[in-house]
Amino acid sequence: NLSGSDAAKKNAAEKACELVTDGMIVGLGTGSTVAHSIRLLGRWVKEEGLNIVGVPTSYSTEALAIECGIPLTSLAASPVLDIAIDGADQVDASLNAIKGGGAAHTREKIVASSAKQFVIVADDKKFSSILDRSVPTEVLPYAVKLVEREILKLGGTCTVRTGTGKDGPIITDNGNFVLDCAFGQIKEPALLGDKLSRIPGLVEHGIFTNAAMVYVGYENRVEVLRRK
Ligand code: A5P
Repeated sequence: NLSGSDAAKKNAAEKACELVTDGMIVGLGTGSTVAHSIRLLGRWVKEEGLNIVGVPTSYSTEALAIECGIPLTSLAASPVLDIAIDGADQVDASLNAIKGGGAAHTREKIVASSAKQFVIVADDKKFSSILDRSVPTEVLPYAVKLVEREILKLGGTCTVRTGTGKDGPIITDNGNFVLDCAFGQIKEPALLGDKLSRIPGLVEHGIFTNAAMVYVGYENRVEVLRRK
């Protein structure tokens, strides 16, 4: 039995799988929502002979995809993906999103940017009229103090993310720290993203502005937002 929010996540994630067809190279995002897509695609591969290869965005997704029987490739071998499907932490009506709640946003952005079509799957609770969550950034440990000062100059405040099971900063799949940066309401996500991208040592930020579609899941239906 799924909770309301789990059902909403599953509805969005499974509906988006209908975009995936034979022969596609598919970017596989990270998190609890897109995990539903990965499980369904795995079932289609095993039971219906769907012929796809996946490119995972994290070690956790790699493990899940292997468990589900989805053949995998790498960006080095398959640099152009037909589609990438991924979750988000917050999405607005203009298809801007904040990602990186699971610290996977650097690889997620590389995969999303390598795809002809980037599709976000999210439950309705992630939808907001304005983005106002803190923005995860991935930062070289060597550059943390510089990045903190530059974020302050942009009007933000930041904290180094720590986690369970380890003392001190969490370490990303790429060996870096995560700084969560709060800016209050983000009126111009693309502009803020450009400014963050110019900070030396800031490897990647969690503002995504390139989604072609957002599948918003509710308990009993799915709404599809498309870029105009
Ligand atoms: C991973 O770093 C994130 O970008 C996830 O894609 C995002 O946090 C969505 O995760 P859930 O689907 O678990 O909410």
